[in-house]
Amino acid sequence: MCGIVGYIGKRDVAPLLLEGLQRLEYRGYDSAGVVITGKSGVLKTVKAKGRVRELEARIPKRFTGTTGIAHTRWATHGAPNDENAHPHLDADGKVALVHNGIIDNADDLRAKLIADGVEFTSETDSEVVVHLIGRSQADTLEAKVQEALRRIEGTYGIAVMHQDFPDRIVVARNGSPVVLGIGDKEMFVASDVAALVSHTRQVVTLDDGEMATLKADDFRTYTTEGSTTSATPTTVEWEAESYDMGGHDTYMHKEISEQPDAVDRVLRGRIDDRFSTVHLGGLNLDPREARSVRRIKILGCGTSYHAGQIGAQMIEELARIPSDAEPASEFRYRNPVVDPDTLYIAVSQSGETYDVLAAVQELKRKGARVLGVVNVVGSAIARETDGGVYVHAGPEVCVVSTKCFTNTVVAFGLLALHLGRIRDLSVADGKRIIAGLRKLPAQIAEMLEGEAEIEKLAAEYAGAKSMMFIGRVRGYPVAREASLKLKEISYIHAEAYPASELKHGPLALIEPALPTVAIVPDDELLEKNRAALEEIKARSGRILAVAHQVQEKADHTIVVPKNEVELDPILMGIPLQLFAYHTAKAMGRDIDKPRNLAKSVTVE
Ligand code: G6P
Repeated sequence: MCGIVGYIGKRDVAPLLLEGLQRLEYRGYDSAGVVITGKSGVLKTVKAKGRVRELEARIPKRFTGTTGIAHTRWATHGAPNDENAHPHLDADGKVALVHNGIIDNADDLRAKLIADGVEFTSETDSEVVVHLIGRSQADTLEAKVQEALRRIEGTYGIAVMHQDFPDRIVVARNGSPVVLGIGDKEMFVASDVAALVSHTRQVVTLDDGEMATLKADDFRTYTTEGSTTSATPTTVEWEAESYDMGGHDTYMHKEISEQPDAVDRVLRGRIDDRFSTVHLGGLNLDPREARSVRRIKILGCGTSYHAGQIGAQMIEELARIPSDAEPASEFRYRNPVVDPDTLYIAVSQSGETYDVLAAVQELKRKGARVLGVVNVVGSAIARETDGGVYVHAGPEVCVVSTKCFTNTVVAFGLLALHLGRIRDLSVADGKRIIAGLRKLPAQIAEMLEGEAEIEKLAAEYAGAKSMMFIGRVRGYPVAREASLKLKEISYIHAEAYPASELKHGPLALIEPALPTVAIVPDDELLEKNRAALEEIKARSGRILAVAHQVQEKADHTIVVPKNEVELDPILMGIPLQLFAYHTAKAMGRDIDKPRNLAKSVTVE
């Protein structure tokens, strides 16, 4: 969602800001804007509805300066148009602000400001903040921002410039990420390291309630109350090249093809053959605590929720701890019973998803122990949780998740094995699962080699108006994720059902025009799954099976390599990522940026 980039230093700022905005495009946005301190010391702003390239086209020739902030906006308050795009200026045009997040009491503040004679130029909640800063009588920019922040309720990541304080940018964070990038006699700020890594890998991530003042050769951090905080820079692991397309036509294709390496990374250094278990260094759960866990509740949104569903099954099977997954967005609103013997696990590739973060904060407030399964190191959810497992998928740019999903599921496999071996999983079973985990990268690579075949199948099914995805037990979350993937990028309506539920309703829909994708692993439910295929065939339904062996009743079968039954779900979804990708491609969709969706949903 919304993105912030800022720079103060010696270089020409506009190209740097535009490049930063381009690197944030993947998060989803509908307008963009930039403000710089011009040569005369006056703030100059350019905004545009649409893509960053449309903003770029509007930038005048002499738009030079060495300090500036920029923004990509995802409309929440007010339509996506030039006026509502950030930056926003105060009445005198001296203060400029970019804002991510939502100001909850904006309507109230707006009414008060209007009563005081302030004229608003946009419909946004953000504009109230810049007017509050502009009207503050405090002496310093820092104090003006603090005074304004005291009056607002809600979430924010903000960056502020003031014409009378041209040597600095002031930033603040509450619930919306702000990362400082430390260069050589230059400083960057962004809402996502993606916008920084081509310039510096030394970063400081602000905490909620923290602010920073950036000058070209210096920065300091402090709380919104004014007390100094210590900020030790850390080094970002991800390389700038990870954000390039690397010869693929889309990030999605690149990220699908990176999965063998990504899975290798999540396993690396963690397997302990001596005790047939794994080491998870950041878990912060000692064996005694692990043994006393009576129940596990996994929380996530979208694809991460589906990864959590597969994870819950793995934990239940391998560790025999009753486990389930629930959308974090639902959980936080139903006044859940928080039980001291339950271990909560928050799953998020970005580590920023607001609904997940809010669920974690609610749980922590109630004294629960919460672990994270997260991709972005140092992200908000990683920091709020008591410990966890990083999934090491590397940066994922395409809005829909592929390699992060797979790595998250593998991370759950590791966690399930770890918990299992602390409890009742035998050494022999531990060995068996470890051997299975080790096979995954090569098996994924083998499946990816079958891409041409999947492309042909996708062309055959691309005309369907609607598709049904079915699976049973381990295969059901795989079906749900495959159905989500297809609808997100192709816009074909797709439904996922447990195969066992077919006859309780959805069978009524089956006819030749509604193809079914069936997950049919060689497990104890094989015959039951075959019976479901029979039922569909008897109604002249077309079937594409994903199975370990060719299914007679299916019109087509994608054969996937066999692993251990508990780990099969990791593999069975992968050809269906390619299926969704090629279907969307055949339909000419904007695969990396599907309509109406954002990579990280950092608001309610
Ligand atoms: C958005 C994205 C999804 C993603 C979900 C959760 O809805 O479009 O692809 O699965 O957020 O994101 P997270 O970063 O928490 O895994």
